[in-house]
Parts: sequence; C-alpha cells; structure tokens
Amino acid sequence: MSRNRISIVGAGNVGATCAHWAAAKELGDIVLVDVVEGVPQGKALDLMEAGPVEGFDCMLSGTNDYEDTVGSDVAVITAGIARKPGMSRDDLVSINVKIVQQAAAEIARYSPDAIIIVVTNPLDVMCSAALKASGFPSDRVFGMSGILDSARLRTFLALELGISFEDVTTLVLGGHGDHMVPLVRYTYAGGIPVEKLLPRDRLDALVQRTRLGGAEIVEYLKTGSAYYAPGAAVVQMLEAVLKDKRRLLPCAAYLRGQYGHRDVYAGVPTVIGAEGVERIIELDLTKEEQAAFDRSVASVRAVLDKLDL
Ligand code: APR
Repeated sequence: MSRNRISIVGAGNVGATCAHWAAAKELGDIVLVDVVEGVPQGKALDLMEAGPVEGFDCMLSGTNDYEDTVGSDVAVITAGIARKPGMSRDDLVSINVKIVQQAAAEIARYSPDAIIIVVTNPLDVMCSAALKASGFPSDRVFGMSGILDSARLRTFLALELGISFEDVTTLVLGGHGDHMVPLVRYTYAGGIPVEKLLPRDRLDALVQRTRLGGAEIVEYLKTGSAYYAPGAAVVQMLEAVLKDKRRLLPCAAYLRGQYGHRDVYAGVPTVIGAEGVERIIELDLTKEEQAAFDRSVASVRAVLDKLDL
C-alpha cells in the first residue's frame, strides 16, 4: 500500500506548522509548495531531519513547482498574506484571492482527485474562489474555521472552570469572522451544559473573546497571525479524511439551502471522511441564533459579491 500524499501550499507559519503536526502523526508524505525559493526546501529538509529523533517515517520535500505535487490525496492551501494589527480578515481579500485561485487551479491540474482544505483568509470567500478555480465538486473543497474557533472557546471555558481542555465541547458556526456564531446552547463541560456552571455575563464575555480570538493573537504577534492552533485544526481535518474517520466537525462547507442559504460557504457541522464533506448536519436554531447566522453569512456575501469569481 502506498503512503498518503499531502501537499501544503504556502510554507509560512501555518503551512509549516501543519507539516510539523502531520509528520508527527505520520499522516503521509508531505510536499511543501511556496513561491519563495529555498524556504519550502529548507523547512521540509529540516523537519525530515527531526524524523530520526521523533521517530516518524515521512518523506518531506519542498518545491516551487506544482508538478511536484502530482497525485496528492489532499492539498491544504495556506498561501497568501496574513493579518497585521488593525486589519480584519476581509482586508486580505484582493491579494489572497489571486493566490488561492492559482493554487487551486494548479492542484486540480496535477491532482484531479484531491480534496482541498482551504485555510487562507478571508476563509469562507477563499473557499468559493478555490471551488471555482479547481472545478471540483463542493464536497471536495472545504475550509478550516469552526474547529479553530471552537478550540478557542473550549480553551477559555476550560481555563475559567479550572478543568481539562478535553472535557469542554462546543460548536461555533457561521463565517470565520467577527460575526461568527458560538452556540452556547450546544456547549458542555463533561456532559453538563455550561449554562449550569457559569453565569450569563461570564459566558457572554468568553463568547466575545472567542469572536476576537484571532485578533488577540495578531495584537501580540504584530507581524502576523496565529498558526499553532490553526495548524492543529487543519491536521484534525487531514486525519479525518486520510483515515476516513467520519469525524463530526464544524467546517466551512458549501451550502445548498441548508440553514436557509445557498451557493455560499459558511461554518456548519459536517461529517468529514475519505470523500470530503460527506454530510452537513442541520440543527434547529433559535430565532436569535438563526438571526446571528444570517448576519454572519451576509458579511461573507458582502465580500464575495465584490469579487468576480
Ligand atoms: N504561491 C505559493 N505560496 C505563496 C504565494 C503563492 N502565489 N504567495 C504567497 N505565498 C506564501 C508566502 O511566501 C509565505 O511563505 O504563503 C506563505 C504565507 O505564510 P505566512 O506569511 O507565514 O502566513 P501564515 O501565518 O502562514 O498565514 C497564511 O493562513 O490563517 C491564514 O490569515 C492567514 O491568510 C493567511 C494564511
């Protein structure tokens, strides 16, 4: 049996961190692609040289040429520019859309059966760009958002409650922007609804911190945005696909009427397996939750409508 082949486009902070986690989990052989000459090659070699110490067997290579990605099972697109303080994810759109279109078209050319996981921001809009440019069916093009946003809320809740990160579960839906929709009603600590454990004002404060979680990191780093938690979130999706785990994870998926929206990407609960997005789970939302979801999708559409995809 041949090993899985993973291509990661963009060998910057997020791309290299994905490669790191994916290699540590021996998910497959990894090709890093970047426009900068030497960087993907150097990072891939450096990481491969950790193999004897960490005890993983993965081939890692770096390239500036998409031909070397041929036959990939999964491609992760992280190429583009990242946020600086004061920027929203939407401010990145005009530069990143061209980069993502090119990456998706090249992946489709050399790996026509691949699954594409989009990470570049603004995420939901970049998913649409990748879908069109690749010509792939929408179940094979989806984005990393909800796992990261949920992980941030899980972290804040676990710290507040003084319990293990593992024991908090939650669901963040909607677009991957400041209007995201953390669903407190679906948030549990060890099976107990968090509404029974924390007062409403504390929950509201943690929800707000989650919405601004990406910006909080940007303010600290100043020269770029988050990459450890985003990298880990991507690898959870990679593992779900490559091991056909059918994980139920919040991901940016193409909506065809679900949650009242059509022909747009937004974060929803999905079943992720070898075929990509195998199912979208529809939940009954309260009036307020649905209104918040609609607002979030409207903000995705506002950016999408300005582009000629
Ligand atoms: N093709 C391939 N790689 C490219 C291209 C291109 N056309 N244009 C830029 N890149 C590469 C850069 O050379 C750089 O190595 O993409 C990489 C981006 O890395 P970073 O600047 O470190 O940014 P990172 O933090 O990894 O974020 C990348 O992911 O989370 C999102 O908002 C974030 O959109 C951003 C993306």
